[in-house]
Amino acid sequence: MLEIKNLSKRFGDQQVLDHINLKIEKGKVFVIIGPSGTGKSTLLRCINALERPEKGTIQLENQIFDYENLSKSDIQALRTNTSMVFQNSNLYRNKTAFGNVTTPLILVKKLQKSEAEKVGLEYLEKVGMLEKKDAYPETLSGGEKQRVGIARALAVNPDIILFDEPTSALDPELVSEVLDVIKELARQHTTMLIVTHEMKFARNVADEVIFMEGGHIVEQAPPEELFGNPKEERTRQFLNRNRE
Ligand SMILES: Nc1ncnc2c1ncn2[C@@H]1O[C@H](COP(=O)(O)OP(=O)(O)OP(=O)(O)O)[C@@H](O)[C@H]1O
Ligand SMILES: [Mg+2]
Repeated sequence: MLEIKNLSKRFGDQQVLDHINLKIEKGKVFVIIGPSGTGKSTLLRCINALERPEKGTIQLENQIFDYENLSKSDIQALRTNTSMVFQNSNLYRNKTAFGNVTTPLILVKKLQKSEAEKVGLEYLEKVGMLEKKDAYPETLSGGEKQRVGIARALAVNPDIILFDEPTSALDPELVSEVLDVIKELARQHTTMLIVTHEMKFARNVADEVIFMEGGHIVEQAPPEELFGNPKEERTRQFLNRNRE
């Protein structure tokens, strides 16, 4: 469970996020859509304290953090309990697919090597990358790298996984292999918050869709409702511009 209350973030004079409130129950998939420059990535980055909001609180399961007074251990707790998957998987280049998944388990989760290896294999299998476990990132396709990144994010057993446009850097023919993995995770009720421009995917995978614009949540609803019968004019305009 993740709950954000009154989160606000500025960059200089620009109010990038303005009193964001959001609650994601365990096992739910939330998808954020919205125009470029609206604060979607910034919101994800605030959740794990890569950016520091001026105001707001965040609750992860039963721990509450106040962004105005984050201690070092709070930041560490936010980062260990949330996993982020970026556009580019950011894999360690000098480690194999297997090494990429096991390293955080050993360094962050403090698992014994043998236990980390067992968990690592399980998650590589989950994303269909077991056969390529000994491959280095430079020999993997973009889609394969993203799948290893997803395995790495899942393996640490976070409260929530944050995806920032996980397919936007991929060649079109590689998009579906990554979306299929995420769809399968959704089917298994993995708690996820996903920023995407893939409207069909959003409709397909989300329990709730959030339309953001100008640092605000303009509208939030289940996908049939938000795509089928948006209440706000701005949502309607955005969807008309982004018909697939
Ligand atoms: N480190 C930064 N310093 C100053 N301004 C920033 C910084 N990061 C983001 N911004 C600004 O904050 C606003 C929101 O950016 P953000 O990256 O969150 O948008 P986004 O909704 O993710 O857009 P996109 O769909 O293009 O990825 C933009 O106007 C951006 O220029
Ligand atoms: Mg972004």
